[in-house]
Amino acid sequence: MTSLITLLADGKFHSGEELGNTLNISRAAIWKRLKKLENDTNLAIHSVRGKGYKLDSPLSLLDSELLDQQITQWPITVLPNISSTNTECFRLLNTGMPAPLAVTAEQQTAGKGRRGRQWVSPYGQNLYYSLLIGLKNGSHQLEGLSLTIGLAVLKTIKKMGLIQAGLKWPNDLLFDNKKLCGILLELTGDPADICHVVIGIGINVNMPQAITEINQPWTSLRQELGTLIDRNKLLVELNYSLSYYLKIHYQHGFKALKEEWQENNLWQHQIVNLLQGNQQITGKMLGVDDTGALKLLINNEIQYFNAGEVSLRLATSTHD
Ligand code: BTN
Repeated sequence: MTSLITLLADGKFHSGEELGNTLNISRAAIWKRLKKLENDTNLAIHSVRGKGYKLDSPLSLLDSELLDQQITQWPITVLPNISSTNTECFRLLNTGMPAPLAVTAEQQTAGKGRRGRQWVSPYGQNLYYSLLIGLKNGSHQLEGLSLTIGLAVLKTIKKMGLIQAGLKWPNDLLFDNKKLCGILLELTGDPADICHVVIGIGINVNMPQAITEINQPWTSLRQELGTLIDRNKLLVELNYSLSYYLKIHYQHGFKALKEEWQENNLWQHQIVNLLQGNQQITGKMLGVDDTGALKLLINNEIQYFNAGEVSLRLATSTHD
């Protein structure tokens, strides 16, 4: 299965005969495998008489051998398909695997977003990545952790060339007010003592605008940079950056990264609406405190808000 998709990944036409010869199977077997591939991945495979088969557009597939060699910070498991890379991290933890460890996949069938939302995860297009870490002094280390992760992902995205991307509190990455990346932290154990955190990161990498299931403005690196992004390179950079920022976070806490976070805060000093259940609070965003709490100026008084079941909007925007 993997080798057939690898052959088609260049987005060019390949005849049934050529595919059959390369994989050493009959043309009828190729046709069967193509149907299964279409079914498993939801990728559209075009068939043109006299030319052969091709994908809609080229894919940058994950190369597990290369990733295994180049990601040295922690072991990484590369899967073709999984319900959710976050869920898989918890499963591996339950089988006794030690943290840290990372999981990535070509496709998620039940990708999880914040506030119970679904995270749209088509095959071969984006980055679906989770890192399991263990924390000894849970509650202290958890302070601002999701903001630290946002910063690590932002650094990676800038390294890939999208230098105008920025942060939206607590941990979204936006470009031109469109979502580029989402982060979901899930915890198990005692947050006041020893616990494990799964850091789930979804980056829109090569996703075409044709995807319609996403109910908020979004963009992808490919759309903004105008070129197919090498997802292996992105993943190698991401692991490097996560390890760099996590080290600072473990040693000095989020406070050591607060200034850098604020420099990259897209809505610094802007008027924002904070939604807390049915309640809407409007204030000027002054930044964040040492624990990553949002600092708003409301009627000349500074108030602090923790991430959780709150969401932030620009006062002039209709989307979160
Ligand atoms: C958000 O709603 O903004 C958070 C989205 C987090 C998505 C990522 S994709 C990899 C990991 N696995 C999941 O099921 N969710 C996270």
